[in-house]
Amino acid sequence: MTDQLIAPPAVEAPPASWWRNAVIYQIYPRSFADSNGDGIGDLPGILSRLPYLRDLGVDAVWLSPFYSSPQADAGYDVSDYRTVDPIFGTVADAEKLIAGAHELDLRVIVDLVPNHSSDQHEWFKRAIADGPGSPFRDRYHFRPGKGENGELPPNDWPSIFGGPAWTRVCDPDGTPGEWYLHLFAPEQPDFNWEHPAVRDEFKTILRFWLDLGVDGFRVDVAHGLVKEDGLPDVGHEAEWHLLGVGESPCFDREGVHEIYREWRKILDEYPGERIAVAEAWAPTLARVADYVRDDELHQAFNFSYLGTAWNVPAQRQMIDDSLAAMRVVGAPTTWTLSNHDVVRHSNRLLQTGDGEVAGRRPTAVDPVAGLRRARAASALMLALPGSAYLYQGEELGLPEVVDLPPEVRQDPAFHRATGQDGYRDGCRVPIPWSGTEAPYGFGPEGGGSWLPQPDSWAQLSVAAQEGVPGSTLELYRAALAVRRGMPALAPTDNLRWVPAPDGVLAFERAVEDEPVFRCTVNMSGRPVAVGRPGELLLASGALDGTADNVVLPPDTTVWWSIQD
Ligand code: NOJ
Ligand code: CA
Repeated sequence: MTDQLIAPPAVEAPPASWWRNAVIYQIYPRSFADSNGDGIGDLPGILSRLPYLRDLGVDAVWLSPFYSSPQADAGYDVSDYRTVDPIFGTVADAEKLIAGAHELDLRVIVDLVPNHSSDQHEWFKRAIADGPGSPFRDRYHFRPGKGENGELPPNDWPSIFGGPAWTRVCDPDGTPGEWYLHLFAPEQPDFNWEHPAVRDEFKTILRFWLDLGVDGFRVDVAHGLVKEDGLPDVGHEAEWHLLGVGESPCFDREGVHEIYREWRKILDEYPGERIAVAEAWAPTLARVADYVRDDELHQAFNFSYLGTAWNVPAQRQMIDDSLAAMRVVGAPTTWTLSNHDVVRHSNRLLQTGDGEVAGRRPTAVDPVAGLRRARAASALMLALPGSAYLYQGEELGLPEVVDLPPEVRQDPAFHRATGQDGYRDGCRVPIPWSGTEAPYGFGPEGGGSWLPQPDSWAQLSVAAQEGVPGSTLELYRAALAVRRGMPALAPTDNLRWVPAPDGVLAFERAVEDEPVFRCTVNMSGRPVAVGRPGELLLASGALDGTADNVVLPPDTTVWWSIQD
């Protein structure tokens, strides 16, 4: 007997504290939809595809940066925080996009990049042009070098993208001068957040976009703004993981929290629950929770979960620890499995059993097995209490593109051998929408795409999956519809584990202490028969079974309604 899925229940989203259990879809603008055929996605392209996102059933979108930028790090190097880069459109396009999203009941979160600017930002250009002693140098971290002639960097910090975190500048007369700090690429000088002008500037940038109607901000490198006084050497470079595993003098310093308390006041001045979500890599979940205390930011990505191995003890422990850590501060957990910096989970969860996260070279995996596990993992994530972020293309089951030729790769770290990252292009390949040939509706016919799309993507396009039972797109749509329609899936504190066979994870969600929903995940690697606790709502893969049992194939998640 093959199971038929019942139709998802009718929908009514709770209006209050929308963000506590929202599903938020990350748009990587350059890879989403290209309106003018230059091969790069843009804001009008996104506007034209908003109905797709409404139909998918997400609550909000987060847009990676679209501000003026030389694109040294795909827009995470901002030269003007109040303008839109011409490759993406204009501020008027941004306004149209925000209004268009609101008309469809979609909220809009924009990226904010406060740790560093572009080296083409007006302030940095002045700092260089004016020479030593320029007050603009105080807005960044300029220092004289060490060594007899200042030829050595001021400290031993490495850049996340490889090489030292310092670059030496030339004085206006052409002689080698001071060094400036950049935790990322040399084109991304770090701001000095001790400087009041920097703090004031970002408050006005927040207001600029809030006034334009955005519903929130994703805060880039939220843990990095404040550096340890005196920028001390670390002395053990090889062990020092810059993204916050362990103590470091430039990440997760206590001083960052004061900044977020100030920002929270600004967000709260605006109607409609405007939010901020932190990209904060911190050594422990408790330290991540500090960013979402009730007078700070609203959400913080749970990167520990993203890096958790696919087995029952590891997943269960991580879910328990995450919920417990956030409960202490009264915040929801913010789950995510993929984003523009990490290997897609359709590849990663099969490639690494040990929780390796970002920036490692992805290897090819069996695409069928990879997708099966990814679908099971997404269905698990979407059944958990809290908010969840999806990354564009995961709802199509896109694989990581592992064989991009070196000459097309654009990740700034790719050619810096010691860098941590460098393989992030593989998850940034433009989305296939329709048709049988590249660019698969990403842009006008005959237009290109800034990264080449694999031939096999015709069968993964939106058009190829829409309305097709069992497709990944329809699985996501069904999951989001159930999630919206089931009040038991809204609270953040109603998960309880239930006994399950070896290698199977099972939990329920309760209303007034009565379990009404169950999620069962088979991670055992073999088919497992389980009893039917109620009506089947969703299955990430095809099931077999009898009237009393269902047989879950390996890497399959099912949702049940156990209401009377
Ligand atoms: C995190 C962003 O997600 C990543 O893409 C970027 O390279 C760094 N921050 C630097 O802004
Ligand atoms: Ca374009």
